[in-house]
Amino acid sequence: PRTAAVIPAAGRGVRLGPGAPKALRTLNGTPMLIHAVRALAASRAVSLVVVVAPPDGAAEVKSLLDVHALPERTDFLVVPGGESRQESVKLGLDALPPEYDIVLVHDAARPLVPVDTVDAVIDAVREGAVAVVPALPLADTVKEVEPAATPGGPEPVVATPERARLRAVQTPQGFDRATLVRAHETVTDNVTDDASMIEQLGETVVAVPGHEEAFKVTRPLDLVLAEAVLARRRL
Ligand code: CTP
Ligand code: MG
Repeated sequence: PRTAAVIPAAGRGVRLGPGAPKALRTLNGTPMLIHAVRALAASRAVSLVVVVAPPDGAAEVKSLLDVHALPERTDFLVVPGGESRQESVKLGLDALPPEYDIVLVHDAARPLVPVDTVDAVIDAVREGAVAVVPALPLADTVKEVEPAATPGGPEPVVATPERARLRAVQTPQGFDRATLVRAHETVTDNVTDDASMIEQLGETVVAVPGHEEAFKVTRPLDLVLAEAVLARRRL
């Protein structure tokens, strides 16, 4: 089975603060998107990477892919993204040639995912799962609250799910392509990850061990951590 990766990179990065679109911001001098592309292309199983660029940034992303060293055996495509992450992923899926039957969806905002995590996700799909997510146990206890009417106001706690049964979910998430395409054609709710669309179809999603270095760069402090991880790797 041939495997392609779709990398949604079209977000603005509002929570990171003012600046370039998040995927184009640099970590130790290299754009976050290039780190993410390298992380996926590092897997020998991935033969195509589709980058979903900021809507007005496709040309810039193409030239970034041209100037940075990337594996010869991997093909690259760039398509412009949409208003929501979900839309961006759909636009990436629409660009996939027919011969790919396993698809990974990976956030550009998770630039440091280790190749072993990528391969573990692909292996689980190859072994028959229709949807696979890398996941980690939580350090914090999680409460469900009744959201405050005014921001910053007190929020009544509704429930405390048993922490040992909760997982924080990362990317790349891996899918049987046909099932993910069907999910995008039928699920219209707003979702925060791709696997939840598969759950809505009634299909089974399985979790495999994630990795702490697959964290998402969301807020300014995450940039500090990402650059420290890269320095430790001497990149
Ligand atoms: N994404 C996308 N298209 C969008 C919105 C998000 O491709 N319209 C991508 C982002 O580029 C990112 C991934 O989805 O790689 C995860 O989203 P998130 O971390 O929320 O990134 P942003 O939406 O850019 O950040 P923010 O929500 O702070 O604006
Ligand atoms: Mg976002």
